[in-house]
Amino acid sequence: MEDRGDGLRLVLVGPPGAGKGTQAEFIAAVLAVPKISTGDIFRANVATGTPLGVQAKRYMDAGGLVPDEVTINMVAGRLAEQDAADGFLLDGFPRTTPQAVALDKLLADLGSALDVILELIVDEDEVVRRLSGRRTCRGCGKIWHVEFDPTSRDGICDRCGGALFQRDDDKAETIAERMRVYARDTAPLVDYYGAQGKLVGIDATGPVEDVTVRANDALRSYGG
Ligand code: AP5
Repeated sequence: MEDRGDGLRLVLVGPPGAGKGTQAEFIAAVLAVPKISTGDIFRANVATGTPLGVQAKRYMDAGGLVPDEVTINMVAGRLAEQDAADGFLLDGFPRTTPQAVALDKLLADLGSALDVILELIVDEDEVVRRLSGRRTCRGCGKIWHVEFDPTSRDGICDRCGGALFQRDDDKAETIAERMRVYARDTAPLVDYYGAQGKLVGIDATGPVEDVTVRANDALRSYGG
């Protein structure tokens, strides 16, 4: 894949199941920036039973959000790591207005700012189809879908041979709560970043590769 590394500071926003994690991997590789997914960091902490994981699990299992203060401190720590000094892709953060305000302040204190927020636009029916069929590899974290992106052997990752699992928060009733939380707490960020002139939205329906092309095209005009 072409490497256009040039230090873009990018946020992906979109409803649960919009394809943020799927696209983040490809986009971060093209931009040569680290992918920082708060959902992945929380899930890794849950898996290893850290105090952060124990705290986060309660909220995640219920389809709610981990409290802002906990999440902001965690991201501040991650952004202070050396590999994020020259650009990053944030997947799943910010997802509340206080998180967005805190991120702007954090970056301003470091003498930088976000370059662009990419919104993945997908309707609710499609999101439910995507989440209910999602499977993730325990070994390498690759995201699959039983219908839209199946592995050649049931339950086994084609990339690393690891076992696939279904996320606890992908049950129907939890998906419904996550959608409600998105509409209430995260959707207002579209206006927040729109007012800053940094928002670009793309149609995130259709094949994964087509969405990646749209994303990379949209980012090119922002210097990506
Ligand atoms: P997080 O992991 O961030 O979950 P999310 O935002 O709900 O997003 P998802 O990971 O469910 O979906 P996605 O958009 O990444 O879609 P994916 O690429 O997997 O957060 C989980 C939880 O952690 C939260 O609920 C919260 O509790 C907590 N949390 C995280 N961040 C937080 C924060 N900042 N503040 C507070 N709490 C926080 O794709 C979905 C499926 O669709 C896959 O199976 C994929 O193969 C398939 N697919 C993808 N693209 C396509 C396509 N084009 N066509 C067909 N299928 C596709």
